[in-house]
Amino acid sequence: MSHKAAPKSHTIDSHLPDLGDLSRQLLKAQEEERRRISRELHDETGQALMVLRFHLEMLAGDTKSEEEKAKIQESLEVLDRAIEGLRRTIARLSPRVLEELGLVAAIRRQALVMAKHTGIKAHLELPEDLASMDHDIEVALYRSVQEALHNVAKHSRANNFTVRLARSGSKISLQIEDDGVGFSPRTAPERGFGLTGLRERTAALGGSVRIHSESGHGTQIRILLPWLADRPPKPASAGNPEIHRHLAAARAS
Ligand SMILES: Nc1ncnc2c1ncn2[C@@H]1O[C@H](COP(=O)(O)OP(=O)(O)OP(=O)(O)O)[C@@H](O)[C@H]1O
Ligand SMILES: [Mg+2]
Repeated sequence: MSHKAAPKSHTIDSHLPDLGDLSRQLLKAQEEERRRISRELHDETGQALMVLRFHLEMLAGDTKSEEEKAKIQESLEVLDRAIEGLRRTIARLSPRVLEELGLVAAIRRQALVMAKHTGIKAHLELPEDLASMDHDIEVALYRSVQEALHNVAKHSRANNFTVRLARSGSKISLQIEDDGVGFSPRTAPERGFGLTGLRERTAALGGSVRIHSESGHGTQIRILLPWLADRPPKPASAGNPEIHRHLAAARAS
């Protein structure tokens, strides 16, 4: 009899029931709130930090004391890190990038930024041109990539990750894989909100999530969502006055 331990491989499928309009409305409200917070951070906190930066630079120019100059320089460096952190938070909160660049370019940018920050190598298999789809589906795909990549950066200790997006018939499929330490998806939902949120968001739009992970052999997440064409005619934001209002407010600032 062999005593070789069976590999700790787990696959979790979730086909939660379609929670209908209420969940969709909640998701919309959540996105709206994120947008508002990101705008306030940009317009208020961001502006205040920039004014502070300007004042510190003036002080550095005015002072004759080398000791003071060094202290101001140190403060500027701390401030620059805070500004950079705030920029990342704003970008994470608002899918404005999605509206400006389109889904494929927004996913590419997100993956490359993550790869640069972590040193994990990105492999991207993204369609050259993808017709724009229903905004809720695009936001769900974008947020799913965001959460999955956040997890890769935070938990996986991987060397490589792959993001694959493909349309096949009436479905759009998104896969995020890494070659890191893996985990047990059976117990994971108790620990964090990220994967639970990803499942709920997908289910609310009539899709399904499959998470497969094996200790020492990485993690794969596959999300299938229905392909729904963009409701207003292209370009994606042209027929959406709400998006226009937000973009105009952002540009005016
Ligand atoms: N790519 C991955 N590699 C290794 N472990 C992972 C990966 N993705 C998720 N996990 C594990 O699954 C757990 C649950 O993930 P989830 O995203 O739900 O929560 P979290 O990342 O811990 O917290 P939150 O997303 O709420 O900030 C994680 O704590 C981690 O142990
Ligand atoms: Mg997470």
